[in-house]
Amino acid sequence: MILEVKELKKYYPIERGFLKTGAGFVRAVDGVSFSLAEKETLGIVGESGCGKTTLAKLLLKLIAATSGEIIFSSKLSHLRKDAAIVFQDPLLSLDPRMNLRDILLEPFQAVGLKTDGLNINRLLELVGLSNALLARLPRQLSGGERQRACIARALALSPKLLILDEPLSSLDLIIQKQILELLLKLKEEFGMAYIFISHNIAVVKKISTRMLVMFQGKIVEQGATDEIFSHPRSGYTKKLLEAVR
Ligand SMILES: Nc1ncnc2c1ncn2[C@@H]1O[C@H](COP(=O)(O)OP(=O)(O)O)[C@@H](O)[C@H]1O
Ligand SMILES: [Mg+2]
Repeated sequence: MILEVKELKKYYPIERGFLKTGAGFVRAVDGVSFSLAEKETLGIVGESGCGKTTLAKLLLKLIAATSGEIIFSSKLSHLRKDAAIVFQDPLLSLDPRMNLRDILLEPFQAVGLKTDGLNINRLLELVGLSNALLARLPRQLSGGERQRACIARALALSPKLLILDEPLSSLDLIIQKQILELLLKLKEEFGMAYIFISHNIAVVKKISTRMLVMFQGKIVEQGATDEIFSHPRSGYTKKLLEAVR
């Protein structure tokens, strides 16, 4: 096990009126428990607003939990180095003023590591980008190139865990297929664990061996992907499956 999550909760306060008095909470993640094995690909599926991104941010400690526990094995002891995330919208996750070279240098600098052209060229090669693009700003790249840049940046420090939060959702269909193939190839080459998040259960099936189904902040079903596809137990999972059949 590289990660174990116990009864994790994130409640966002709802603020109303100019006095900003509390008017209750959004239970974005509401008592989630699961574990992740080394080198495993875990899919997380559920409709928009069910808490997937909140869960991903909690795991990487980008936001604080309301309660619950996240236990990391020694393999993930240095979270900034050992885990990385790729978000849905590459344009929002890249600094518009940084060119591709600076984007790829940043993770090394963030942990005080020196790097050189070799590391950068290796990252470009891994994700299939030409080094002729190094001087470009994010807006001067195509959507697919931008997502490849985000993946390269995430790979920079050789993470043991890569969280992919709807990595295909901003891309058109042909590019989605290419990026999915790239992710499968990288997984085979490096064997890091993936947490692959999507609202699309058909996409999750293509990449994950085990999956969680989330609904309104809770896990309504979890198990082997094949088993869930052949024998879904929760009514909500059945609905998701009907939508793609
Ligand atoms: N920073 C925030 N403040 C308040 N509510 C939030 C915040 N972020 C997300 N939410 C709410 O939490 C719920 C889960 O959101 P999110 O984790 O983004 O879901 P998903 O990624 O599955 O679409 C939604 O109801 C959303 O409106
Ligand atoms: Mg989301």
